[in-house]
Amino acid sequence: MWIGNSMLFNWLDRNLEKAAGRENEVGYEGKMWMVHSGGFYEVEKRQLSPGQMPAKLHWFKWQNFTTWASGIALLVVVYYLNGGAYLIDPAVRALGVTQAIAFSVLSLLLPFTVYHLMWRTIGKSAPVIAGLVSLAALLVVSYALTQLFSGRAAYLHVGVLLGTVMTGNVWLVIVPSQRMLVKATESGQEQDYALNQRAKQRSIHNNYMTFPLLFIMLSNHFPGTYSHPLNWLILFVVMFAGAGIRHFMNIRYALSSTAAWLGPIAGISLATTVILFVLTARPAAATPEPTTKSTGKPPVTFAQVQGIIQTRCVTCHSATPTEPMFPVAPTGVMFDSPAQILILAPRIKERAVVTKTMPFINKTGMADEERELLGRWVDEGAHGQ
Ligand code: HEC
Repeated sequence: MWIGNSMLFNWLDRNLEKAAGRENEVGYEGKMWMVHSGGFYEVEKRQLSPGQMPAKLHWFKWQNFTTWASGIALLVVVYYLNGGAYLIDPAVRALGVTQAIAFSVLSLLLPFTVYHLMWRTIGKSAPVIAGLVSLAALLVVSYALTQLFSGRAAYLHVGVLLGTVMTGNVWLVIVPSQRMLVKATESGQEQDYALNQRAKQRSIHNNYMTFPLLFIMLSNHFPGTYSHPLNWLILFVVMFAGAGIRHFMNIRYALSSTAAWLGPIAGISLATTVILFVLTARPAAATPEPTTKSTGKPPVTFAQVQGIIQTRCVTCHSATPTEPMFPVAPTGVMFDSPAQILILAPRIKERAVVTKTMPFINKTGMADEERELLGRWVDEGAHGQ
């Protein structure tokens, strides 16, 4: 709702047209017609003269608040409850639950406070320095998070941090400035331009954070990114690419139409190339040695595969899980029957062999030889014999 709304208003601003004869009217920024939901909408943008305030005015601040508040509620439910199962990865750092939650809360509050205070002080006179410091701080915090929490939680925390900064910008700077604008218009006073400028600055920050934020919020569907040993680097690349694409979307109307598309295409290609490069350059241990095949180990039998899956996966991935942490099969994935195992063969390889993100926090103590065996079975065609 929130991001969609912000994009709609950005789009509106770019597509308004001044009606013939009104080009030089003070405070008139243009209008447009739209068709949607069974009717036509006429939208006009203008500044109001002092004393012109309409009786009813719609604000757009609650979308932001509900998005942020529901996200924080989910953070608590998914990451803090359950003994911090998704938050803590003993292979990264063996934190206690309380300790991990304390780090999590701090990692959100502290950077936001520093950011906010910095833009209230240095940001006014030296925005370039404040910008560079903010960016460097974001990268440092992101890296630190990947060294503290599970990859998945680290990514999500960077997202929550961006979302929190954006929400703070809305409530501590943008909304107060709009409130002053409304008040000044009502009481027939001139507007405070310094306040408007500050709000504009924070809106620009929010604009550049939207795409990185959207990727991060979806990142838990892409274990190949967050589970990689260089997960922080992948995150940096995606954040830069997201902000870069956003930048081209912002300026493309000022460029010729072909030049405008070069930016996003270059950005996406670069990000994809780097990510593919990084993903394929996993440590060699993750893939079986090519010599293993040629030295002719006996083919893996399906019975062997079933045996491994039965002991290492079915405690969670079953219609009747025995693992108390997951009373229902996670994401609906079950390995009770041969057919279920066969159809999921590529995902089994991806999660248990390539990314090694399954079994979840290696709860069932899967050995590397077992991973190698599953991988070989898939490479041999994932047969059912
Ligand atoms: C301790 C519980 C647990 C065990 C044991 C476990 N998983 Fe999972 N599995 C999860 C959870 C939680 C999720 C959802 C979160 C995620 O995708 O990371 C999941 C999701 C999955 C998915 C669906 C997501 C996707 O990437 O397609 C697959 C496939 C999967 N696991 C395979 C396995 C395999 C193979 C094993 C055994 C080698 C295994 N799991 C063992 C908890 C477990």
